[in-house]
Amino acid sequence: MVITELEQIISMVSEKLGYGKLSIKKSNIADYQCDDLFNLAKTYHKSPMVIGEEIVSEINKLDNFNDYFKEVSFCNPGFINITLSDTFINRILRFMNDTNKFGIKIDQHKTYVIDYGGPNIAKPLHVGHMRPAIVGESIKRILKYFDQEVISDVHYGDFGLQIGEVIYGIKEKNIPLENVTLNDLNIIYPSISKLCKENEEIKEICANITKELQDGNLEYETYYKKILELSLNDIKRIYNYLDVDFDLWYGEMDSRKYMKDVEQILKDKNLLTISEGASVVDVSEKGDPKELPPLIFKKSNGAYLYGSTDMATIYQREQDFHPDYILYVTDLRQKLHFEQVFRASLKAGITDAKLEHLGFGTINGVDGKPYKTRNGETPKLDDLFKEVENIFKTSKESNKNMDDEDTKKIVNAILKFADLQNNRDRDYIFDINKFSNVVGKTGPYMLYTYLRLNKIIECEKSSDKISNIIYNDVDRNLRLKILELDSEIKKAFSERMPSYIADYLYDLAICANNFYQNNHISSCNDNIKKADWLYIINLTKKILKEMLDLIIIDVPTIM
Ligand code: ARG
Repeated sequence: MVITELEQIISMVSEKLGYGKLSIKKSNIADYQCDDLFNLAKTYHKSPMVIGEEIVSEINKLDNFNDYFKEVSFCNPGFINITLSDTFINRILRFMNDTNKFGIKIDQHKTYVIDYGGPNIAKPLHVGHMRPAIVGESIKRILKYFDQEVISDVHYGDFGLQIGEVIYGIKEKNIPLENVTLNDLNIIYPSISKLCKENEEIKEICANITKELQDGNLEYETYYKKILELSLNDIKRIYNYLDVDFDLWYGEMDSRKYMKDVEQILKDKNLLTISEGASVVDVSEKGDPKELPPLIFKKSNGAYLYGSTDMATIYQREQDFHPDYILYVTDLRQKLHFEQVFRASLKAGITDAKLEHLGFGTINGVDGKPYKTRNGETPKLDDLFKEVENIFKTSKESNKNMDDEDTKKIVNAILKFADLQNNRDRDYIFDINKFSNVVGKTGPYMLYTYLRLNKIIECEKSSDKISNIIYNDVDRNLRLKILELDSEIKKAFSERMPSYIADYLYDLAICANNFYQNNHISSCNDNIKKADWLYIINLTKKILKEMLDLIIIDVPTIM
């Protein structure tokens, strides 16, 4: 929007002088800047200053200079600094205000399957399951915002050892299947899982149960169905609390019917080799800094593994949706796994889609180690929600009376803003007290800002017209910040990185707070000025609301 227009007009001048297109970016010194002069200097064997002065002088001669610029000047050693005219800034603001989605568009329409969440059946959700859910949900919302075709799939884990372990546990305990509860699962899974780590024989039995289930054993299938039902109910309840939802509720097991097809393709293409009894696909490539281990497609006992279900799922998705992209939001530690799966799928030619692994880091406690409760356990998500709620409710007397719906929104804002402000592939420290505070780069600060702006508008009659005047620096700063939305959200889209939006929102909130603290709207007697300011407040509020929605934050009625 702003950058494109500036690039167009400046490139027009530069091309006329024979220098070709120029690029523009945000600047700390002026509003925007061009720093292509060094490159031009090399190509044209002139000093950056000579070229810069030439272009600047030509721009200053433009008839419509004032429609765009207040000042354009050369700055040593080789920059062109650009200060926008008030007319230009306000023209763009009008366009953003009057156009759906602030006039921001991506000229591309693609089909995406996005695979996130990935909870494992029979295991309760703990802190570690929050990131795949919310990072994925946010990326999905960003893609959809730009009108992409998006199919989300939770791809729950129901193919592994844990299912065999839980079936074994239920049988061992002699609980009649129809009486099994979620609570039983929560007790059985950790105890049998521990047992299997200590006892090879029992582990073997559990692995066999899993294998027979995969092969279609009907008795185990009834157990599996019961476990699935209990577990999914609970998972859905938690995702519901987090406002995370999916188009498809498929599990690893749902890819089972495609397994033979994929195996046949691998055989036909001579890609399966036998190594210690297992069928493997060699995925190493020349030039790999470290040799990539082969993908194990089938174990010697005939069981399929995580890599094989992922390949079968790719095949399934290709049949069902023929996507342009398949995105996987998982822990960074699965990087190698996905590298193997992607290479093997490419070799087998089972999809044309671009495959992207979008990894994320770990949530750490203030001690810098993976987040734990006071007694050293990895907290269940339910307990984390409770803990945050407690801190919020006890931080202020009036918070105690907040209704459940609003409390839930605030807990969500605390957790999500803490998380999504981070570059997703880094670990971050979740300091509950810091992130619950209404001051700082926090969810509550964002909500507070929104509610404050809303209040101003409620008390006054909002305006749908804006003049071409800008009244002071804080006013100008807010308007310029609004213009940056376009480029920040596009970065979030192309890099699949919600943190650009969270960062932007925080900066916008700071500008907005400065704005209304310094410009007193209610006592303003100048009608045009007042209308202009209300217009800006209203636009800022709309942006906050829509962008918070992209990071899955909903605004409470009060705070
Ligand atoms: N269930 C897996 C886990 O807990 C995550 C699944 C991610 N998706 C996938 N297609 N492998 O690690």
